[in-house]
Amino acid sequence: MISSVLEEKRRFKPTKQFLAGSQGPNEKALELIRKKAARNPEAFWKAQAQNLVWKKAPKKVLSGKAPHNTWFADGRINAAFNCIDVHLTTHRRNKAAIIWEGEPGDIRTITYLQLSIEVNRFAHALTKTLGVGKGDVVGIYMGMVPEAVIAMLACARIGATHNVVFGGFSGDSLRDRLNDSKAKVLITQDGVHRKGVATPLKAAIDSSLKEVPSLRHVVVLERTQQDAKMKMGRDVFWDQLVKGMDTHHEAEGFPSEHPLFILYTSGSTGKPKGILHTTGGYLTQAKYSANIVFDFQDRDLFFCTADIGWITGHTYVTYGPLLCGASIFLYEGAPTYPEADRFWRMIERHRITIFYTAPTAIRTFMRLGDEFPNRWDLNSLRLLGSVGEPINPEAWMWYSRTIGHERCPIVDTWWQTETGAILISPIPSATTLKPGTATRPLPGMDIDVVDKSGKSCKPNVGGLLVIKKPWPGMLRTIYGDEKRYIGAYWSEFPGSKKQAPFYFTGDGARKDKDGYFWIMGRVDDVVNISGHRLGTAEVESSLVAHPSVAEAAVVARPDEIKGSALVAFVVLRADVKPEYVAALPEILRAFVAKQIGPIAKPDEVRITGGLPKTRSGKIMRRLLREIVTSGVTTGDVTTLEDMTVLAALRQDDE
Ligand code: WT7
Repeated sequence: MISSVLEEKRRFKPTKQFLAGSQGPNEKALELIRKKAARNPEAFWKAQAQNLVWKKAPKKVLSGKAPHNTWFADGRINAAFNCIDVHLTTHRRNKAAIIWEGEPGDIRTITYLQLSIEVNRFAHALTKTLGVGKGDVVGIYMGMVPEAVIAMLACARIGATHNVVFGGFSGDSLRDRLNDSKAKVLITQDGVHRKGVATPLKAAIDSSLKEVPSLRHVVVLERTQQDAKMKMGRDVFWDQLVKGMDTHHEAEGFPSEHPLFILYTSGSTGKPKGILHTTGGYLTQAKYSANIVFDFQDRDLFFCTADIGWITGHTYVTYGPLLCGASIFLYEGAPTYPEADRFWRMIERHRITIFYTAPTAIRTFMRLGDEFPNRWDLNSLRLLGSVGEPINPEAWMWYSRTIGHERCPIVDTWWQTETGAILISPIPSATTLKPGTATRPLPGMDIDVVDKSGKSCKPNVGGLLVIKKPWPGMLRTIYGDEKRYIGAYWSEFPGSKKQAPFYFTGDGARKDKDGYFWIMGRVDDVVNISGHRLGTAEVESSLVAHPSVAEAAVVARPDEIKGSALVAFVVLRADVKPEYVAALPEILRAFVAKQIGPIAKPDEVRITGGLPKTRSGKIMRRLLREIVTSGVTTGDVTTLEDMTVLAALRQDDE
């Protein structure tokens, strides 16, 4: 099994400055919470659920058998009501819910009351004008504008299930996701501001939308005033749609297990998985985790840099902070526009207090140099966070010193699209930090590192990261593909009569002597590029769709900035003209970017005569991985069908 080489000796206790402004538990109090939650998890989760306002309070807590658990199933609740209305009768009524900065520098502040008005008007428009009903799926394909959050909340308010698709995905990727979820309505924009350019969004997807038969309406928000061709009867501008709509809206309570959203993520086969989250359990876990991990105080301004197209943008841009009544900061554009100091400048201008970003961004800023953060006053910051991939200790130290001025704890938060919310993380008021580890599971969670037989690994022995007991925010299924749901998460440790199955995360990890979890990355064919998850199979199926390509295998090699970089091995079809070959790597990179989106673009394309395969025809990606990382192959190659292929691949490398 995997073992680790370096031992991290540095320790960081919660700083005095942080503790002075925090109301979180100290170490002793946290241990009590942990013990109590472990003794009776259901009572613990029931208490967390009581922090929400239910239209009908649930009597049930956990029901059903894993992997088909339900949470609070007899309760009824409205997600938008909990994010907005509950604050309107408090001192938060006129508090900023959203402070937004557009890339060109325009600023908008939206209070909880104003958010309520916008969401209510849009909710009415969706039901009355567009005929969206309970359980209908609404696609959202937008940039980082307040209307994206408003759209999500309006869907939630009327019981429509939102399916947010990252605005950086191509029209084809959008089409596939809308078709898979049978979306009835799409909400999009004329264009987005990115790196100083207004890029069309609606016009770029028009031809793909023709191939979505379920789509009845497209709502277009005008942001860049770009020409968007509107299809009569189908397309409508946002402003026209909400004109004259009632600003009051009665929020209905939906069953706790009503689908709140579908979010697509990559798996180890070609087709993205539609992760389905439901309402009551998800909200319970979102509120609980946001509160305990980010220690929200009323004066905080929380900046989570994630796009709403990812789960982080769902749980910690939208639902978690708003459930807690926090103020969120949203930024529309590129972090390097007009200069590489944009984040730091906005932290000073808006006095942001909590900053949550990804290791790939931290490593990028680290390379750009201290000059940029040093230009600005970062003293408003009190807490920093990291998410998406393991943060290497060097980047952690830089983050702590240069951004946090050794005053701010760092919460390294581990979770997944599937888990719905943060599951492993420090509690900033209590946990002694070690750079490079997400530390321990949150109270209420039963998480372990086990060997292939399901037995707990000894300290510092690498194994597989599993979740042993169900949790409220867990995914309920893969939309429309129950078989894959079982296969992907529940078949590795199927359990027995006496033992419930374990949820398998797909991650490798080890636990140290203090019970801290060190995540060692994916053990399947999923790779983490700049904190975004990609299935290598997805990229492979895109490559073989090109007329010049016969076969393709994609593997990852470590990359200093992005975490991993993609290397594609490509076998060409016999009829490809020799003079065309030299240009192909660039052509194929662009091809993948167009098919899936720029994030999936291979960093390197290697044209080769053959791929190493087993006798049964399976590509031995392990060997390719070794070739791209160390240049040599080790271990067992006896199942390899054609040994000469391997020799040739090594030579290609030289
Ligand atoms: C995968 C999930 C959760 C939001 C962003 C990614 C990796 C995530 C950490 C962390 C080490 C991490 C895992 C996980 N990952 N956070 N703090 N330390 N690895 O969500 O796209 O569903 O990806 O990201 O490999 O399985 P996602």
